Amino acid sequence: MNKGKKRSAAVLSTILLASSFSVVAPPLAQPVAAAENKVVHPSAKAHDQKVIARVSQERMFADASYLADTIGPRVTGTETEQQAAEFIRERLTSLGYEVETQEFGIPDKGGGHLHTSDDNEVLITIPAGSGGTSEEGMTAPLFDAKLGKPENFTDEAKGKIALISRGELTFVEKVQNAVEAGAIGVIIYNNVDASAPLNPSLGGTSFDIPVGGITKASGEALLQDVVAQNETVNFNVQLLKNVTSQNIIATRAPQKGDNHEIVHVSAHYDSVQFAPGASDNASGTAVALELARVLKSYPIDKEVRFVFVGAEEIGLLGSKYYAENLSEDELKRSIANFNMDMVGTSWENASAIYMNTLDGQANIVTDTALKTAERIGTPSELILYQRGASDHEAFHEAGIPAVNFIRREPGTAALEPYYHTPQDTMEYLSAERLKEAGDLVGASIYSLIRK
Ligand code: BES
Ligand code: ZN
Repeated sequence: MNKGKKRSAAVLSTILLASSFSVVAPPLAQPVAAAENKVVHPSAKAHDQKVIARVSQERMFADASYLADTIGPRVTGTETEQQAAEFIRERLTSLGYEVETQEFGIPDKGGGHLHTSDDNEVLITIPAGSGGTSEEGMTAPLFDAKLGKPENFTDEAKGKIALISRGELTFVEKVQNAVEAGAIGVIIYNNVDASAPLNPSLGGTSFDIPVGGITKASGEALLQDVVAQNETVNFNVQLLKNVTSQNIIATRAPQKGDNHEIVHVSAHYDSVQFAPGASDNASGTAVALELARVLKSYPIDKEVRFVFVGAEEIGLLGSKYYAENLSEDELKRSIANFNMDMVGTSWENASAIYMNTLDGQANIVTDTALKTAERIGTPSELILYQRGASDHEAFHEAGIPAVNFIRREPGTAALEPYYHTPQDTMEYLSAERLKEAGDLVGASIYSLIRK
């Protein structure tokens, strides 16, 4: 633990997106210590300690490791996403929660493989809207279609798989040009270096031929080893239909009454393809599981729900489904959403805990977290920031004050460089930072729900 580095006051800066606001006048850019709650009731600190003393960084690290290392990438709608759901479900049940599995359908998706004739596998991402192949896949030569402009295609492209570079045209235009030239498949390679294959989003357009994205390095290797040598590749895309994902929901309500306010705690457990998703988001999942364990023991006077969300990475589908299915009565009773997404990276520059809200404004969650940070001496700076793109968005849309807690670099708001890459592994996850998030969010939630 980096106790030596602890600062007494957490600092709140308001950073608004420059594109949305020309004048940045941060009314909240002042040390929290100057806020009105100078007098801290001694029992508030004692309550914080009840949570903090029990939040175990070892358990959170082990749970994140189970998700990221043992299960691995947990792509929406796949068996590994389900394995993660099962792990979460069993844990919550063993903790004594009432657990609901909320299943929902997701759009058809394709899983793909690309092999060279000497059987080397090339990592490939299949966008929604790609066509499929037979079970054996298609074996065909590649056609070097440069940028995929109409003039880049010749008669030679007929019956071949077009290999196209990213750039200048949209992905859809490139695929359309390939179809018109008689190509039977399209592989688009990146024009910038990245460790994960390109995801050439087709923005809702569907094609009959298979389409995939690969890295710049893979594209260059194929040009050299396959196109130049007149070799073939095997491209296999299986379209999966009627695929489902699921939210796992653990609820605890006070013993008496049925009209309590509700605090929703959320974290998504799916990941993108090829990424073990240690930071995104085994980290938030592990913290939420630990808070479910710790908060189970204490008397409460509000309802608390731990929502483990599936299908976040394909457009926040799980949280939207959850929020849209809350009844009028549940919505009325909902007072807060604490969403944790990417709370444990060890990337040194991500020294701040950002509190992302959809409107960039403070709310009950940011206020509660700031007061808590002040009481418990959270080592990191807390920054209020305007950003969606995680499950807090669905809660906000439903009218529930919502925050995504996420580690970023102060000033630039940059995420760690391993984000959405195969390097998002346990190697870059910090047990101390999981603990910091668990203490902050756990003590905050407890300050709202305790008796
Ligand atoms: N955890 C990430 C990243 C994230 C969260 C970025 C909050 C910024 C703010 C999240 O899982 C993610 O990758 N989101 C997608 C968008 C989503 C709607 C599919 C993104 O930011 O590209
Ligand atoms: Zn995420």
